[in-house]
Amino acid sequence: MSTDKVSVHGSWASRWVFILAATGSAVGLGSIWKFPYMVGVYGGGAFVLVFLACIALIGIPVMMAETLIGRRARQSPANALKVLALEAGHSSKWSWGAFAGMITALLILSFYSVVGGWSLEYIIDVGKGDFQAVTPDGVGAFFGELIADPWRLVAWHTLFMLLSAITIAKGVNAGLERSLRILMPLLFVLIVILLGYSLTTGHFMEGVHFMFDFTPEKLLDGLLPAMGHAFFSLSVGVGSIMIYGAYMTKEASISATVVGVALLDTFVSLLAGLALFPIVFAAGLNPSEGPGLMFVTLPYAFGNVAFGTVMGVVFFILVAVAAWSSAISLLEPMVAYLVERTKVRRGWVTFWLSFICWFVGLGTVFSFNIWKQAKFFVNEGGAFHLYQWGATAGLDFFGVIDFFTSRIMLPLGGLCFVIFAGWVMGREAVRDELSVRSPVLFALTFFLMRYVAPIGILIVFAAQLWK
Ligand code: PFF
Repeated sequence: MSTDKVSVHGSWASRWVFILAATGSAVGLGSIWKFPYMVGVYGGGAFVLVFLACIALIGIPVMMAETLIGRRARQSPANALKVLALEAGHSSKWSWGAFAGMITALLILSFYSVVGGWSLEYIIDVGKGDFQAVTPDGVGAFFGELIADPWRLVAWHTLFMLLSAITIAKGVNAGLERSLRILMPLLFVLIVILLGYSLTTGHFMEGVHFMFDFTPEKLLDGLLPAMGHAFFSLSVGVGSIMIYGAYMTKEASISATVVGVALLDTFVSLLAGLALFPIVFAAGLNPSEGPGLMFVTLPYAFGNVAFGTVMGVVFFILVAVAAWSSAISLLEPMVAYLVERTKVRRGWVTFWLSFICWFVGLGTVFSFNIWKQAKFFVNEGGAFHLYQWGATAGLDFFGVIDFFTSRIMLPLGGLCFVIFAGWVMGREAVRDELSVRSPVLFALTFFLMRYVAPIGILIVFAAQLWK
């Protein structure tokens, strides 16, 4: 049975716009900033291997589940689950899972905007020639000074949030297609150029070994972080892809489109890693540097290569655009939900939601400076403290939000959506939406959705608990 619901928020003009929007959502700071630093922190190849396995076996099925739920219901995530659950004779409480996802998206946006702000600052700094012939220590000190200054960070965070909010207030359709059609391919070209530079450093193979060699002992350490990052990278588990699915035209094939977007996103992550690590080794930087890795490594490269200033400015503009197109997908699910529920104007809803995210984001800003000493979940010398000022172990505010969203909420959200598609909606509804022609391919996809992905998520959680 096919459904012919219509979204009150409008729909994409064609299949291509969905592909652009979904790719815009997936490809962002997760691929260029977060993936390389996590590979560095969690020991290289083992992390990459688990990440790739999670993308294929869990992330793609969840992405398909989200898209098809959204397109069938054509509403915001919480309402989509409610309507479809009631249609299938199940409890409307399924919507709670989506609601939790939409809140998670806002929490992610709170720190995403801060880092998006860093890339805005770097456009100016690279443009001014601040990194010309810079030394590795020099870039490190530069980044250190930036994050030590709360006011500068707040200013950029505010600007980034404003840019995202304005787009959402106008409606996701406006401008998105035009800008992404040109800028996404350009980002890809620039990463390939950086890769070219990496090849000339004489440390390329060191980078390749770091990313792809692994010791089995390390596999377990990076298991949950890698799964969490697979969700983060594909933008799944919070309803972002679901709301984009709600605006997707009926003719488009979900399966082919989703696989394409996921492959592209993964490819960009791998390329970004391959471009970055040889530079890290050539400059004698530390691969487990953490969140500053990209902001220390790339300016060093741009500062030491011909046309580096122009290339650097273009690169950081593109990073900011990639971050912006992801940020709007974090805001859209809750905006759509509140517009549906309250009938309040889109502009107002957007204003208040982005203000709340901005406010929570101040916690991330301060984690790098005035609240640097504030540590949560401290486990030191066998004693556990929920909070301690000045502890050497534990997580700062940014660490807590990142841990809670990426490692707990995204996989739980994904679990909810994939179980919903596989068990609540049932085979016929899924077949109708996925439009996979080959029966064998459909059976395989449905099997992944129904069994492999949910069991995979549970196994990773269990392995983490019993580690
Ligand atoms: N996928 C985005 C990135 O890799 O930067 C981040 C993101 C967007 C995560 C949307 C989650 C989400 F719902």
